[in-house]
Formats: sequence, structure tokens, C-alpha cells
Amino acid sequence: MTLRMGVIGTGMIGRDHTRRIQQVLTGAEIVALSDVNLEGARAVKADLAPNAEIFETGQALIASDKVDAVLVTSWGDTHEDYVLAAIAAGKPVFCEKPLATTARGAKGIVDAEVAHGKRLVQVGFMRRFDQGYNLLKQTLENELGTPLMVHAAHRNPTVPDAYVTPMAIHDTLIHEIDTFRWLLGDDYVSARVIFPRKTKHAHAGLADPQIVTLVTTRGVVINTEIFVNCRYGYDIQCQIVGEEGAAYLPEPMAVTMRKNARRENAILTDWKGRFVAAFDTEMQAFIDEAANGTISGPSSWDGYMAAVTSDACVKAQENEGAAIDITYPDRPALYN
Ligand SMILES: NC(=O)c1ccc[n+]([C@@H]2O[C@H](COP(=O)([O-])OP(=O)(O)OC[C@H]3O[C@@H](n4cnc5c(N)ncnc54)[C@H](O)[C@@H]3O)[C@@H](O)[C@H]2O)c1
Repeated sequence: MTLRMGVIGTGMIGRDHTRRIQQVLTGAEIVALSDVNLEGARAVKADLAPNAEIFETGQALIASDKVDAVLVTSWGDTHEDYVLAAIAAGKPVFCEKPLATTARGAKGIVDAEVAHGKRLVQVGFMRRFDQGYNLLKQTLENELGTPLMVHAAHRNPTVPDAYVTPMAIHDTLIHEIDTFRWLLGDDYVSARVIFPRKTKHAHAGLADPQIVTLVTTRGVVINTEIFVNCRYGYDIQCQIVGEEGAAYLPEPMAVTMRKNARRENAILTDWKGRFVAAFDTEMQAFIDEAANGTISGPSSWDGYMAAVTSDACVKAQENEGAAIDITYPDRPALYN
């Protein structure tokens, strides 16, 4: 069976997911496209999905009986309504992060899915599908003994002017927030933020770099540096220290060159190249499972946990140095 998929939001990542579904992956076809900017949707149809129907609204796309599964890749503050509509229609839905822009919105999605009684939602936390993180997780589970600390960094060369201090959490750290819950199999109890000396490359509305400390229920301390004007490249670092040893996230593969009395490896400059294989794997998993009526990737619950944790981290930004408690309600059985 070919899964007939519709994309809502045909901007950068909507176009990229359309390309991978049409050209790289198997088992699915893009049959519907929608965007508030209809010209954008038409351009993606012309370039990548000539058989797709253009829908004037995302809601109409979700309701169409030509569409088996929905991909939500519009702006973050529009995700919640589309995901709720897909659940109401009983259709599998892949939602890019964030699931919702507020914890309350994400909780509404969890409640709707629990009421539906079956998982339909996968959230776009693609690092869980990254080979390097999976090797790191295996190493942690087989070799390192009890984990004690995580030292991590999320560095971008530069960000647009619209990127302001809280976005370091909502747009950037959100990936680490989900990844470390998954890596450690643990939840968070507190968040703390400190602001080191500010780089001259950050504009007035952005504190950069930042260091976020998350503590888990079992006492693992995770320090993550967010530095989005680091200049030199896109660099994701992670070291886990356990009772028996330490393990490092593998570097992306790069040729070592010896030339002009220097030894060099290129460093990537954006997330697209860094996680391209992870995006492919995550989307293939969604296609295969949606076609079978089972979804097991990052869930609404994970999206909700990330939203609650993000809110605490933003509060910690507003109260520099203070530990902000994080509490979650009990996890519904649907997500066990
Ligand atoms: N997993 C990741 O690492 C990753 C990477 C990039 C983007 N994202 C997420 O994907 C989403 C889209 O990001 P992007 O970079 O593609 O942004 P973008 O601005 O390039 O594209 C978003 C598109 O959504 C459309 N849109 C906005 N509101 C809409 C609505 N109500 N209905 C239909 N279409 C609407 C816009 O016209 C635009 O074409 C964001 O939530 C972003 O956080 C995730």
C-alpha cells in the first residue's frame, strides 16, 4: 500500500520532507499540499509533487478522503490546531517541533489522543533517529555504568535578527531537552540558566552564549552550552560521563586533509547536512508505522514534556542562577 500524505506548510522543511518522500523514501506519496502562501505550495508541486492537489486550507487537506496521513510543517504557533484536527479525523500526523508553543496546548493534544485511545502523533525530534546518538545510547547502556553527568554544546555560526533570548530554548535547546530524556530514560526535576560574558556578535535582544543546567530525577546533571553566534560552524557536541567511563557523540564524517603544513577537517555550517540521514530514518519510520496503524516514534507526551521543560528553562533565563523546579503530571498508559 502507498500511504497518501498531505503537507501543511511548504516552506523550508515542508519542501525538504516532500523531496525526501518523493525521491528518497519508499511507501508514500505526496498527494496534497497546503500553505497560507499558495504560491509556495504551487512551487513545491511544480518542483517535486506534480500529482498533488493544492488545498486552500490545511483543515480542508486534513478532511480530504484522498489523504491518509498528515505532515505539519507550518510555523510553530499553527501546529496545535492542525494536530488536533488530524486526531479528530483519526489520521496519523507527523508534526515538526514544537508540538505546540505552550505546555497547555501540548497537554490538550495529549488529552485528545488519549481520548481517541490510540497513538496517531509523531513529533519531529529527529535526533532520536541519528546514528551517532544511537551508538552513544548503546555505549551508555552497555559500557559506561550509571550515568552521572552530560556535557553538551549546541553551536550555530549565526542566527537571524529575529532570534531573541527565549528562542535559545524554544528553537534550539528543545532538541537537547528531548534527546537527553530519551538518551538517559529519565525526566527532569530542575533547570538553571547562567549567562557567560556576551559575545560582541550577538544583537541587543539576545543573550549569547547561555549555559543551561538540567537535573534529572536520578540526579544526573546536564550542562548544555547554547552559543548561536559561534561563527565557525554548526557544531553539536555531547559527552556522557558514567561511573565506568566517558563517551562522546561521534563527529560527522569528514575527510582529513594535510596541506600547507596544516591538518584539517571541514566543519558543517547548518543542521540540514548534520541530520539529513536522521530525517530520512525518522520519516521512513513514520511512513511504515502509519501504513500499519501503529506509531511509536517521539510522542505527544514527549512533545508535552519538552514544552513543560522549555517553559521552566525560560523562567530560569528570567531568574538567572535560580533553580526552577520542573513537575509533570503522571504519564497516561498510552505512552508507556
Ligand atoms: N526538526 C528540525 O530540526 C527542524 C528544522 C527546521 C524547522 N523545523 C520546524 O518546522 C517548522 C517550519 O519551519 P521552516 O524552517 O520550514 O519555516 P518556513 O518559514 O520556511 O516555512 C513555514 C511555512 O509554513 C507556512 N505557514 C505559516 N502559517 C501557516 C498556516 N497557518 N497554515 C499553512 N501554512 C502556514 C508559511 O507560509 C511557510 O511557507 C517550524 O515549526 C520549525 O521549528 C524543525
